[in-house]
Amino acid sequence: MITSISGPPDGGPFWLTFFGERESYGFLPEFPRGRPAYNEAMNKRSLSVVDRLIAELDTALRVVAAPARPAKPSPAADLEPADLNDTERAEAAALMRVNHAGEIAAQALYRGQAAVTRDPELREALLEAADDEYDHLAWCADRVHELGSRTSLLAPAWYAGAFAIGAVAGFGGDRQSLGFLVETERQVAEHLEGHLQRLPPTDTRSRRIVEHMREDEIGHGQDAADRGAAALPPLIRRVMRASAKVMTSVAHRI
Ligand SMILES: [Fe+2]
Ligand SMILES: [Fe+2]
Repeated sequence: MITSISGPPDGGPFWLTFFGERESYGFLPEFPRGRPAYNEAMNKRSLSVVDRLIAELDTALRVVAAPARPAKPSPAADLEPADLNDTERAEAAALMRVNHAGEIAAQALYRGQAAVTRDPELREALLEAADDEYDHLAWCADRVHELGSRTSLLAPAWYAGAFAIGAVAGFGGDRQSLGFLVETERQVAEHLEGHLQRLPPTDTRSRRIVEHMREDEIGHGQDAADRGAAALPPLIRRVMRASAKVMTSVAHRI
């Protein structure tokens, strides 16, 4: 069983410790970003369910509790901060907090789906998309802090709930899992479009981030559709929409 995962903060060789015995496992370009170590390690050693569970737990803790370090710089990095009044600032912060919570959930959904699929190619695609979501959540977190506010206090709940939902979707089979992903991304893109209507027109930094995320989400949905996603029953789509509404309403405040 893995008892610890270690590595340099800016990428490079990482190692796993099995009950005090250290074993080198290769190279991660950006350790310790969100991706669980076992995905790299699986080529060299088949890890047990418990090992994978611990690696997932480690990833979850990093996603919800550690400062996020995006692979790609924020698309808003080159924009000057806008001069917002207090009301605009508070609303922008609340919307970006909601988006951050959504990205925590997206991250967990993909990882939940990746954890149960038996198709290595699909797993890799899901984890690549999860890496994009990780960048999104990092950009949103930075923007929330720039606006003088905080991210959702319920991040662990969003992560745990979404991971479970992703795993359940994955157990339904790959085509259903992809269908779930297509519908999720469609609803997220709609939701981001709504935020573009609500964000202050002068808040160019938040707007640039949301626009970029929206393009990525459309790309994720298209990729899943191209992989043979099944259409979801209308009832499931309605349940997903209602669940997302609860999450966005709560994260707007808490
Ligand atoms: Fe995203
Ligand atoms: Fe996405």
